[in-house]
Amino acid sequence: MADARIVVRLDEPIAQINPNIYGHFAEHLGTCIYDGVWVGPDSPIPNIDGIRRDVVEALKRLNPPVIRWPGGCFADDYHWQDGIGPHEERPRTVNLWWGESIESNHFGTHEFIRFCRLVGAAPYLCGNVGSGSPRELRDWVEYCNFSGESTLAMTRAANGSAEPFDVCYWGVGNENWGCGGRFCPEDYGTEYKRFSTFLHDMSGTPLYLIACGPNGNNPDWTRRFMSKIGDYSRIHGYAAHYYCGTAGTATEYTVDQWYQLLQRSRKVETLIAQQRAILDGYQPVGVGARRRIGLIIDEWGTWHPPTPGRHPKHLWQQNTMRDALVAASTLDIFNRHADKVVMANIAQTINVLQAMILTDGADMLTTPTYHVYEMYKAHQGGMSVRTTVDTPNVTFAGAEGDESMPMLAVSASHKEDLLTVSVVNYAADTPIEAAIDLRQGRARGGHVRVLRAADIHGHNTFESPHAVEPATAPLDRSGEMWPFTFAPASVTVLHIHLG
Ligand code: AHR
Repeated sequence: MADARIVVRLDEPIAQINPNIYGHFAEHLGTCIYDGVWVGPDSPIPNIDGIRRDVVEALKRLNPPVIRWPGGCFADDYHWQDGIGPHEERPRTVNLWWGESIESNHFGTHEFIRFCRLVGAAPYLCGNVGSGSPRELRDWVEYCNFSGESTLAMTRAANGSAEPFDVCYWGVGNENWGCGGRFCPEDYGTEYKRFSTFLHDMSGTPLYLIACGPNGNNPDWTRRFMSKIGDYSRIHGYAAHYYCGTAGTATEYTVDQWYQLLQRSRKVETLIAQQRAILDGYQPVGVGARRRIGLIIDEWGTWHPPTPGRHPKHLWQQNTMRDALVAASTLDIFNRHADKVVMANIAQTINVLQAMILTDGADMLTTPTYHVYEMYKAHQGGMSVRTTVDTPNVTFAGAEGDESMPMLAVSASHKEDLLTVSVVNYAADTPIEAAIDLRQGRARGGHVRVLRAADIHGHNTFESPHAVEPATAPLDRSGEMWPFTFAPASVTVLHIHLG
């Protein structure tokens, strides 16, 4: 047993947690869309006009605020016109980046908007800069958002939606330093200015235009892109990608590899601080003023080696307690930086990379990462408050010698008199007794939810889909300071009534 102290400073608000920090990303890749979301209206798998009912029900429980689609790399080779109109007339195209699968285009704009509405999420469309044109992207905006009688708006009505889709979030390309066109920052800056010039608010829907940011924490991309565009009036969000990768495989890792991956996932905190500081250098903010360009972590998560027996380009991977701790500790970082991060979309929703959901024919399971999102949803929209943690460190063998990291990660937020404190105990085999100190507040009971497994490799399978699930118990604590023991390798959320 180790000792720690967690101070929740209720009198030190950071900022309101943008619910979009709990966003998702779904790409036409492997079985994320086809099988994962779309089975078609004639499928024996229960569906709502072709969209899996079990997946809709499961995602709804997460309160997903936003879903980014159709890619990823797929976006810069996607032509939205291929995905509208009668299904039998849509072209069959080749998915260039993801195993040359045949893309039926049966899941297109209307189907995606329907999916978003069924789960209660805002749609975020990522446009094609790499192989598309400003005309193609401005037409997609008109098709989605224009309420007048233009040919494109009337085509949308003929295809089933007289009402505009009112899509607010638009990505101007994806990874344009790589699969999105291999641009240098200056050339992408030129393209960004050209494309964004033609993307207008239509019929009263204000557009939130998102530029492609760096691969990881690359200051050079950001400085050169920001210097090039000069005029920041047509940029609202700036999107970095951060994949922490792997250590070992998805399900087989040593205790040292457990820590190596968790440690690497924590580096997104440096990315947030440094990228935010660079952006602020171009768009200074006065004290108390809102930042004009929002920092987005557009894609993030673990990326394990290909799973034997699966197509290596389909990026299917299992999801264990280690992925759950990566998710929880990353969400804690986003919460703690609620003043700096406006949106974050984990990659990806179903059957790809760090998924919420895995499907196999008619079967579906929710992953440990799903349970973290469900447990953490109380933070969405809450006021993030400063926390300080005195915790012992754990030492482990890193790639280049011994490394150490704190045993606990924490974030806290409140909505009126409901305080949510989330705590990750990274220590693989050490329980930690922490004194919880609610500075300026007193607890009056509540409840606690804990996600843990008998083993650090714990995960759900189709044979045993409920092996890893959170347990809920009453929290019979009162007063300003009280002890709580955090189980090894666990995620805990304390829901505390203040009073
Ligand atoms: O999420 C898988 C891929 O990772 C995306 O298509 C791409 O944007 C990133 O490289």
